[in-house]
Amino acid sequence: MRRAAVLGTGSCLPERVLTNAELEQMVETSDEWITARTGIRSRRIAGPDEQNYQLATRAARRALEAAGVTADELGLIIVATISPHMLMPSCACFVQAELGAAKAFAFDLNAACSGFLYGLDVAAKYIVADPNMKVLVIGSETLSARVDWDDRNTCILFGDGAGACVVGGAEGRGIIDSCLLSDGSLWNLLYMDSPASTNPDLLDPKSKGCVIQMSGRDVFKYAVRAMEDVVRQLLERQQLAVQDISLIIPHQANIRILDNLAERLGAVPEQIFCNVNKYGNTSAASIPIALDEAVREGRLHRGGKLLLCSFGGGFTWGSMLLDW
Ligand code: UT7
Repeated sequence: MRRAAVLGTGSCLPERVLTNAELEQMVETSDEWITARTGIRSRRIAGPDEQNYQLATRAARRALEAAGVTADELGLIIVATISPHMLMPSCACFVQAELGAAKAFAFDLNAACSGFLYGLDVAAKYIVADPNMKVLVIGSETLSARVDWDDRNTCILFGDGAGACVVGGAEGRGIIDSCLLSDGSLWNLLYMDSPASTNPDLLDPKSKGCVIQMSGRDVFKYAVRAMEDVVRQLLERQQLAVQDISLIIPHQANIRILDNLAERLGAVPEQIFCNVNKYGNTSAASIPIALDEAVREGRLHRGGKLLLCSFGGGFTWGSMLLDW
């Protein structure tokens, strides 16, 4: 059976490493607190020639090379991001121009930390409609430009980076099923205001501007429960047990969320991929960066089952099952 499958992966992390020790000099925090409460030890921070679209393009080139696909073969480019360097044109259009992907249409997708999963799902649907289509799905963020560096509740958590996948039709492997959800009524637990605007709805004198604001403890609780639910739904629908899954790649937000999720699902630690210690929370980029690392570390084998799951601002959340 022909399905939409990941043909190649790539990622790109900025050079600059920001350690917990450096954060101790910036806000009232400690390496001990950050490590114990989040599992994060360092994160990457983009420099001047590491704009969102530049990280995205570098990740894309690596994914194209791994897939053996040329830019000219691409029919669609999707960039999942909440931190484009410009609101218009989209980051995806910049990537399209950088790659010279003359036959591709391109757009950004905003579903916060679930953006990459949503993007993969859109790609899969296009490929079902046109099995010869090749789609580039990228998750890319420069969240360091969207963080209040005086707010210790958030600035210790986030990092920059990009991950990419080339998706195309393949025989006997690929995306089996997905379950995507959202609940906009809880938007104010995790959000980022718009840039300055004359729109009266957006004129809030108390606004801190375009920075991430989060009620961490609430988000934590929703994240664990929602991801557990959405993974269980998918497993039930496919009549699989968690033991049937070779690798689970959850959105990398906090080691305690990953541990909680594993415990609730009855998964063993070896089944859960984790790199939040190195990169922090890179929102839409976290799953594709982790996927690329998992591939390059040899953690995925043909015939194995891969499960992706995410939770983020919106709220948005979801799960996806693939035959690798
Ligand atoms: O990607 C989208 C999804 N995002 C997430 O999944 C994030 C989910 N939330 C979390 O990961 C955690 O809630 C945080 C890491 C954000 C916070 O951890 P927590 O264990 O929930 O801490 P808390 O917010 O309940 O705060 C506990 C204490 C507070 O002090 P008091 O009020 O008890 O005196 C905070 O002020 O820790 C304090 N605190 C800090 N202390 C040192 C908060 N941030 C820091 C800090 N350093 N950086």
